[in-house]
Amino acid sequence: MESQEQLASAIAMAEQMASGDSGLSPLSPVGVDSSRNELVHLAQEYGDVEDEDTYRIADIGCGDGTLTADIAEAYPTADVLGIDLSGKHALLNTYDLENVTTVGGDMYDVLPELSAFDFAYAINVLPATNNPEDALDLFYDSIREGGHLAVTVPNTDGLPAEASRQDTGTLRYDVSTDLPYLAFDGEINGQDVSAQQYVFPRDRAEQLFESAGFTVSSYSTLQTNSTAIPLAREFLGIDPEDDDTGTDRPETVDLYILEK
Ligand SMILES: C[S@@+](CC[C@H](N)C(=O)[O-])C[C@H]1O[C@@H](n2cnc3c(N)ncnc32)[C@H](O)[C@@H]1O
Repeated sequence: MESQEQLASAIAMAEQMASGDSGLSPLSPVGVDSSRNELVHLAQEYGDVEDEDTYRIADIGCGDGTLTADIAEAYPTADVLGIDLSGKHALLNTYDLENVTTVGGDMYDVLPELSAFDFAYAINVLPATNNPEDALDLFYDSIREGGHLAVTVPNTDGLPAEASRQDTGTLRYDVSTDLPYLAFDGEINGQDVSAQQYVFPRDRAEQLFESAGFTVSSYSTLQTNSTAIPLAREFLGIDPEDDDTGTDRPETVDLYILEK
C-alpha cells in the first residue's frame, strides 16, 4: 500500500492529466529522453566535475529513480542519493548501480543528516509539498555554499488570466502561500484522499527562490510526459502502449537553476 502522501501526489497529477484542456503542465520531464539528458548534463555544467570523486548529487523526491540512475551512470565516481517518501520505487531502476544510495523517508527528516550536496535536483517536487517555502528553506540548507539546485515546477501558461486568483473548479488560490493550486478530493481503496498541487507563475516562483536565499542562474522550459509517473498513469487507467500524453499536446514544466 502506498503512503497517503504518495497517493495524494499521484492523484493530483492524474487529475491534472485528466483535465487535459487546463493548459497546465502536470507531467514529468524525466520520461522525455531529451529533457532527462538535459537535466543530467546540468550537474556537469554547473558543478565541480573536475573533483568528481567527492562530488555529491541528490535527487530529492526521486520517484521511481529513472533520473537518479542516469545521473549515476553519467557521473560514475560521484556519490548519488535518491530520496523519496518510499525508497523502494527508486530501487527498481538503481539497484545495480554501485554509486547510488536510495533513502526512503520524509525529506525533512533525512536531508539534514545527508547534507551537504554539491548539486541537487527537485524535479516536480515543490508542487507536491504542503509548503513550498519550507521546502525551499530545506533545500537551501542541504546545499553547500556555491552549490546548485535544479527545480522544475508546473507553470501557469495557458490559464485564463483571472484563473490564478479565482476558484475555477479544481483550480483554486492559496492565500497563505500566495500560489494557485489544483485541488482534488476523492476516495481510493476506501480511504478519503485530499490532494493539492501548486502551480507557479514565473514572478512568484522567482520571488520564492530569492526569499529562500537562492540566486536564479537560469530559466528555461522542458518537455514532459507521464512515463516516469506510473502511479498517476495507473490511476487514470492509461495503458503505457497507448500513452500519447505529452506528445499530442505541448506540455512543459519550468526549469530553474538556483545557486546558493
Ligand atoms: C511529482 S513526483 C516527481 C517524481 C520524480 N522526481 C519525477 O519527476 O518523475 C513528486 C515526488 O516527490 C515525493 N515527495 C513529496 N513529498 C516528499 C517528502 N516530504 N519527502 C520525500 N519525498 C517527497 C513524492 O513521493 C513523489 O515521488
